[in-house]
Amino acid sequence: MDIDKFISSITASTGNHPDRLLQYLNEIQYQYSYISQPAIQLLADKLSLSEAHIRGVVGFYSFLHDKPRGSYDILFSNNITDQMAGNRELLDSLCNKLNVTPGIPRRDGRVTVDTTSCTGMCDQGPAMLVNGWAVTRLDENRIDAIAKLVESQTAIEQWPAEYFQVKDNIQRQDILLLSKVENGSALKSLIEHGAETVLQQIELSDLRGRGGAGFKTGMKWRFCKHAEAEQRFVVCNADEGEPGTFKDRVLLNSYADRVFEGMTVCAGIVGATQGFLYLRAEYRYLRKPLEEVLQKRRDAGLLGDNILDKNGFNFDIEIHMGAGAYICGEETSLIESLEGKRGIPRKRPPFPVTHGYQNQPTVVNNVETFMAAAQITLHGSECFQCCGTEFSTGTKLLSISGDCERPGIYEYPFGVSIQQILEDCGANDTQAIQLSGAAGSTIPADDFGHAVSFEDLATGGSFMVFNKQRDLLDMVRNFSHFFAHESCGFCTPCRVGCSLMQDLLDKVDSGHASEYDLEEIRKIAQLMQATSHCGLGTSAPISVLDTLKKFPHIYQQRLKHSSYEPAFDLDAALQDARDITGRNDAGAHIGTES
Ligand SMILES: Cc1cc2nc3c(=O)[nH]c(=O)nc-3n(C[C@H](O)[C@H](O)[C@H](O)COP(=O)(O)O)c2cc1C
Ligand code: SF4
Repeated sequence: MDIDKFISSITASTGNHPDRLLQYLNEIQYQYSYISQPAIQLLADKLSLSEAHIRGVVGFYSFLHDKPRGSYDILFSNNITDQMAGNRELLDSLCNKLNVTPGIPRRDGRVTVDTTSCTGMCDQGPAMLVNGWAVTRLDENRIDAIAKLVESQTAIEQWPAEYFQVKDNIQRQDILLLSKVENGSALKSLIEHGAETVLQQIELSDLRGRGGAGFKTGMKWRFCKHAEAEQRFVVCNADEGEPGTFKDRVLLNSYADRVFEGMTVCAGIVGATQGFLYLRAEYRYLRKPLEEVLQKRRDAGLLGDNILDKNGFNFDIEIHMGAGAYICGEETSLIESLEGKRGIPRKRPPFPVTHGYQNQPTVVNNVETFMAAAQITLHGSECFQCCGTEFSTGTKLLSISGDCERPGIYEYPFGVSIQQILEDCGANDTQAIQLSGAAGSTIPADDFGHAVSFEDLATGGSFMVFNKQRDLLDMVRNFSHFFAHESCGFCTPCRVGCSLMQDLLDKVDSGHASEYDLEEIRKIAQLMQATSHCGLGTSAPISVLDTLKKFPHIYQQRLKHSSYEPAFDLDAALQDARDITGRNDAGAHIGTES
């Protein structure tokens, strides 16, 4: 379709709203494989935005491009768990079969092959995205078939359906996943008991946010309820970009009604009229089924005006898609992104509960938090207080992957030990756990007696297992490349620190590092933790510091030099000069230490 007509059709139907810029750009990207200059000009005119602003947004998100990608845009998920399952070999194999260089569209424009950050399929990797659609359980046979499908220009809709099958892999259920919550029943309970009573139940339950930080949910909702406002908003954070986390994917696939019910309860309590589900682009396949769930809820009177015939209880939910930026999981970046901007974290305070979306009071909660809130609304605070620990009530969903026999989703009451989890998921010979993703801690075997809880080992849910055959430096390097790629670049300690950290860890890996470099790593880590603007910069060095302390041998065994050696080969760099001068004597070489 003519670009002018296409842009008019997508913008006019949604009111030419600048806040929707990212949504429009996503549609253009899906349709044309890139955002062309004419597209930018047309959008700038229609939305009364500057072209520079739009170009800035395009440049920020990994899944938006200002140059054409291949008709088949293939991105291999590059989490450490994908790497452990052989993604690199499969990428090389596909590139060979298709005669394509990673990252560069093939000359005929047919295909691009590249890597991307964790796609949230760690329990069924290696995985890839093809034009945004997740393909799981890759092996050499599947790669061979995919190469043939690309060469024969078979439309993606005609590719075998099993390639796109994403399994839930629920391995352990507890009160949250086992309980039945009929659609609308929590809302009926809210209407029957009143907003204040239900809010008190949420407070009494001691529910804490499941996205990682563990802020008390009842307190957050109360702040929002009491903030001055023209309008209030409820946002469900389904960005789930933390490497190794995929529980929200499963909840949205199989428990979406309950998540939306929790959001609507929240809206009823705080007085919000508009909700958003911010869905990571990697879960594009979930969008249509989620839209269908929302429509069914509207048809059943569970969304829209006068919900369940309660006068003035008006609330609806819209799905906004992300575009491949991990930082947009941070709640203020997410709000910026919802407003159609680059996802740069805001200064806090003020917090979103008073100044969030459109500067209005906004509750941002994780998918699992909303689901738990629906359950408490229906069954009361006791259903949470009856399990867990003193400071961590209820249960936690864990996304387990890596070296274990049964990867998938496990729901445990808080207080479960790491050892118990390892036994349940069939992990043997375990060297370490990476808890809470790339941003989390590396737990050695000595600490497997510790428990998952806010007072001991807090986690957003990622649980990656590494057996004794694994080289943990591969893990740390993978994370450092991830952070260097995902740093939003706003503040210097993180932008430069992540990049220096990546280079130094590569230097360690190549055997050219010395004690001096390890000391540099520690200094940079300290600086990042003390001065970064947001949680990405402060958490990026954790796994490096943890492994330096608890697994020093992974560094020490690679140190060949006791004193400093530059990261590049000085002697080799002088070869041109030697060639020009015709010298090759000892004095024309830089001496190397033995
Ligand atoms: C870099 C970064 C990424 C984050 N990603 C997510 C995410 O994907 N999902 C999420 O729920 N919270 C994420 N958070 C935490 C959110 O900022 C916020 O605390 C959370 O959505 C609040 O919900 P909760 O109270 O229900 O946990 C992230 C934080 C940081 C610093
Ligand atoms: S810490 Fe990193 S991600 Fe956060 S604002 Fe600074 S540069 Fe951006």
